[in-house]
Amino acid sequence: MQRFLDKVVLVTGAGSGIGQASAQRIGAEGGTVFCVDLNEAAVEATVAGIVAAGGKAVGRVCDISREEDVRACVAACVEQHGSLYALINMAGVLRFDDTGQIKLAQWQKVIDVNLTGTMLLCREVLPHLLASRGSIVNAASTAALSGLPCGVAYSASKGGVLALTRSIAIEYAKRGVRANCVCPGEIKTGMTDNVEFPETMDYSLISRIVSPTGARGPEAVANVIALLASEEGAHITGEDIRVDGGTLS
Ligand SMILES: NC(=O)c1ccc[n+]([C@@H]2O[C@H](COP(=O)([O-])OP(=O)(O)OC[C@H]3O[C@@H](n4cnc5c(N)ncnc54)[C@H](O)[C@@H]3O)[C@@H](O)[C@H]2O)c1
Repeated sequence: MQRFLDKVVLVTGAGSGIGQASAQRIGAEGGTVFCVDLNEAAVEATVAGIVAAGGKAVGRVCDISREEDVRACVAACVEQHGSLYALINMAGVLRFDDTGQIKLAQWQKVIDVNLTGTMLLCREVLPHLLASRGSIVNAASTAALSGLPCGVAYSASKGGVLALTRSIAIEYAKRGVRANCVCPGEIKTGMTDNVEFPETMDYSLISRIVSPTGARGPEAVANVIALLASEEGAHITGEDIRVDGGTLS
């Protein structure tokens, strides 16, 4: 399939996990991938992998929680490539805290990256997506749909992503821009490899976020993201698609 031939796609979180798998998928399908991440070495490795496989990609270091970084990043993408067809907003952070003890700075960091960062990218790309009649795919989570023990900041941020995605979808529907999100659950990535729980964690509650079909790799989500971002998803907007192997069924 060459669903992204001659199309420019900006992918955040492209240095790891679901963002990286999405960038690779878009690159393999003919797209020019503008890979964005906080981690320079990781984003450069993703770019090198796409180019080595015969695709087109460039990298950009950006902290998505910083307004000026995001503004400059989207401007650079459009300046270099002339247009923008899709935004795949996968950068994010996860932490677990005892809700009775979470520090304001810990809460704020998660909200700043996952929610405010997602909004900043959406805001900056929308004028360009209006021109291309393009689309956005945001990273929500099963934590947006079901309680996550010790995940108060993360689940609030992802609930916000779900709500803002629907709002953009309805606001822009008549103007030809789509916005959807994916709700992954138990996907093996750097994020889930490095989880730390607070001492007070009740591990018997974790079974509710374990997939009955086992954890999957990030390609399982990238497949859905590519469909949503491409013309194949042309009549889908304001949707949230669980990719959780049935966890919340
Ligand atoms: N893995 C899962 O099981 C799972 C489940 C539900 C939702 N998600 C969501 O999917 C998205 C991708 O997750 P993943 O598992 O691939 O994570 P990951 O940790 O493997 O990758 C996230 C990437 O985001 C980058 N990043 C973090 N903060 C950033 C910032 N401020 N600016 C720019 N880049 C930043 C990291 O450097 C990293 O490369 C996240 O939004 C995550 O919350 C993941």
